[in-house]
Amino acid sequence: MLAERRILLIVGGGIAAYKTLELIRLLRAQGAEVTPVLTRAGEQFVTPLSLAALAGQPLHRDLFDLTTEAEMGHIQLSRAADLVVVAPCTADMMAKMAGGHADDLASTLLMATDKRVLIAPAMNVRMWDHPATQRNLATLKGDGVLVVGPDNGDMACGEHGPGRMAEPPAIIAAIAAALSAAEKPLAGRHVMVTSGPTHEPIDPVRYIANRSSGAQGTAIAAALRDLGARVSFVTGPAGVAPPSGVTVIRVESAREMLAAVQAALPADAGVFCAAVADWRVANAAGQKMKKQAGGLPVLEFAENPDILATICAGPQRPPLVVGFAAETHDVIAHAQAKRARKGCDWIVANDVSPGTGIMGGAENAVHLVTAQGVEDWPRLPKDQVARQLAARIAAELDAELGGAA
Ligand SMILES: Cc1cc2nc3c(=O)[nH]c(=O)nc-3n(C[C@H](O)[C@H](O)[C@H](O)COP(=O)(O)O)c2cc1C
Repeated sequence: MLAERRILLIVGGGIAAYKTLELIRLLRAQGAEVTPVLTRAGEQFVTPLSLAALAGQPLHRDLFDLTTEAEMGHIQLSRAADLVVVAPCTADMMAKMAGGHADDLASTLLMATDKRVLIAPAMNVRMWDHPATQRNLATLKGDGVLVVGPDNGDMACGEHGPGRMAEPPAIIAAIAAALSAAEKPLAGRHVMVTSGPTHEPIDPVRYIANRSSGAQGTAIAAALRDLGARVSFVTGPAGVAPPSGVTVIRVESAREMLAAVQAALPADAGVFCAAVADWRVANAAGQKMKKQAGGLPVLEFAENPDILATICAGPQRPPLVVGFAAETHDVIAHAQAKRARKGCDWIVANDVSPGTGIMGGAENAVHLVTAQGVEDWPRLPKDQVARQLAARIAAELDAELGGAA
């Protein structure tokens, strides 16, 4: 589990810092790479040499270390890890984190990181019980910071109660859980994906369809599944097989697709990737239409339900709704207008002009249209577009609904 996982370990100025030496030894025994950072106060409790020797890596101590900045800036240091761990995390460090301070290397790294942070608080029982510390704890949890411990027990100061740093094996277990949650950020989430074309019958053997293969929707469903989501995959008659490990609901027409989507909700997110026919044949025949000498059938059309707009305006609108816009001209302008018209959060727009080879092809060049603006993604294989989109959905849900605390 921890093999080759990179931990940025910040050691604060508490008596429990001696236990962190054992934590480093155990982490390395499990194959993790540990980059140690020591606070000024921490230096009073463990020596820089012990930390660097046990970690097998240079120790970082100074925000204004020109050599380190030249080789690896503090921003890069804060992001190169898979997880940031603070052990022991002092009352002072919790206050700084809750207040957003960045006045030394440790607090600056904690502000600059884009990774999950796990703290192992350790302090005197009265410091732990102090309303300020409890307020800071609540703030940190609200910010998505993970917390392990503290334990109850006898303390170095002679008092008894909560405040002892969690033991190294418990911290390792919390690190492993945090890392696996980071790999499966959509665990516990339900995402509904529509995919493929719809078939609108003319008679029992003929239909009107479009060139959608279902490749992009299938790749998106697989990418969401890989991030741990429970996926309901509502698919029209697609040219590619649905992914494994998702709930597949097969439909033919737009009206069937709307009913299946409504039945699949509620969901944390809805990705509407299907190429739904705008019109259906209003006078579809119940029996096969026969060829008649001198006569041509006259098809009348009726408008299909607008699935995306219906769901966006409905009572079960997912918190995040992603629509797709396949256009052949004025791609961005149409996508922006569609986003406003349908009431969805994001539109993934692509140019499906015949020259692009995108419809039915293996690659896609999309623009992500959000309330913040337009992102132009490079032309990528469809499964890479899917992975990128799934990661964006995971980040958005994490920010919107709050991560695990
Ligand atoms: C002997 C001694 C032991 C300390 N132990 C702790 C402790 O266990 N937890 C804590 O929050 N602060 C403890 N402190 C106070 C911190 O070292 C002090 O708040 C310091 O500013 C923390 O800095 P840092 O969070 O940057 O490491 C201790 C101080 C002394 C002198």
